[in-house]
Amino acid sequence: MDKQIIIKFFIMISRNDLCFCGSNKKWKKCHFPQKGPIENPEKKYLTNYGILIKNRKQIEGIRQASKVAAIILDKLVKKAKAGITTLELDEYSIELHKKHNAFAAPLNYGHPPFPKSICTSLNEVICHGIPDNTKLKDGDILNIDVTSVVDGYYGDTSRMVMIGKVDEEKKRVVDTSYECMIESIKILKPSVKILEIGNVIEKVAEKNNCSVVYQFVGHGVGVAFHEPPQIQFNYNNNQIPLLPGMTFTIEPMINAGKKEAIIDSSDNWTARTIDNKASAQWEHTILITENGCEILTQYPN
Ligand code: MF3
Ligand code: CO
Ligand code: CO
Repeated sequence: MDKQIIIKFFIMISRNDLCFCGSNKKWKKCHFPQKGPIENPEKKYLTNYGILIKNRKQIEGIRQASKVAAIILDKLVKKAKAGITTLELDEYSIELHKKHNAFAAPLNYGHPPFPKSICTSLNEVICHGIPDNTKLKDGDILNIDVTSVVDGYYGDTSRMVMIGKVDEEKKRVVDTSYECMIESIKILKPSVKILEIGNVIEKVAEKNNCSVVYQFVGHGVGVAFHEPPQIQFNYNNNQIPLLPGMTFTIEPMINAGKKEAIIDSSDNWTARTIDNKASAQWEHTILITENGCEILTQYPN
């Protein structure tokens, strides 16, 4: 009887079938008998690159946190109108995080501790702008960046808002940074090298007469705020191939003029363009799947 079952089993399963253990991986990538040590890619990524390949439970947690971050960001974007201060947006963010049983990762993060719950980056501010008493006014462009922690997992996302009537240059940088993000997300799937993200983004930026900030990067995210790998958005030589279960951000920072950033020495956070021309950024948290990728911070769908 036992023998009969074993014979049937070997006749039915082929190397490309799903493994019998329920892992959802192909048999050849899972319990297929091998000579010598079994090459375990998850272990290799952690030891060689410090990249944590997420398991199913972690992915569920990150999906939840990303959804909450995206919902909160959507509410904040809708409130960003002429006359409101970025500090009022921050207060609303704190209220929304409470409502969702979440906390805001930026608050007290880093050295010196970031003082607010979101980043609000206006006009020539590239990223890490601190909410304050500045009132939004007609012609401004604003990036709102939300990172929410739910049940210990992180989701990170940002969007641009145009206040009233915005000039051509500002509109161009807002649209270009969006196109950079979306076009680079389209190429994401297992085996694609990290360097290919920067190639797409540089090309889209160049076509639109914009420059790509190189002093800030995207990052692994999920069980911590900033994890390996770093995702560069300019031309680079990162040969690491994407693997299912990787979670990271795509968040290109695009300038209308020169690409250089300078950090404000009075707060050690606010990053501005060197020529005071406009800058824009959009951000999604991404999961690499077996066939492509999933945008975890897409809201509304
Ligand atoms: N949310 C930002 C990012 O995309 C990081 C902000 S760090 C902070 O990585 F401390 F300024 F909040
Ligand atoms: Co980020
Ligand atoms: Co962010």
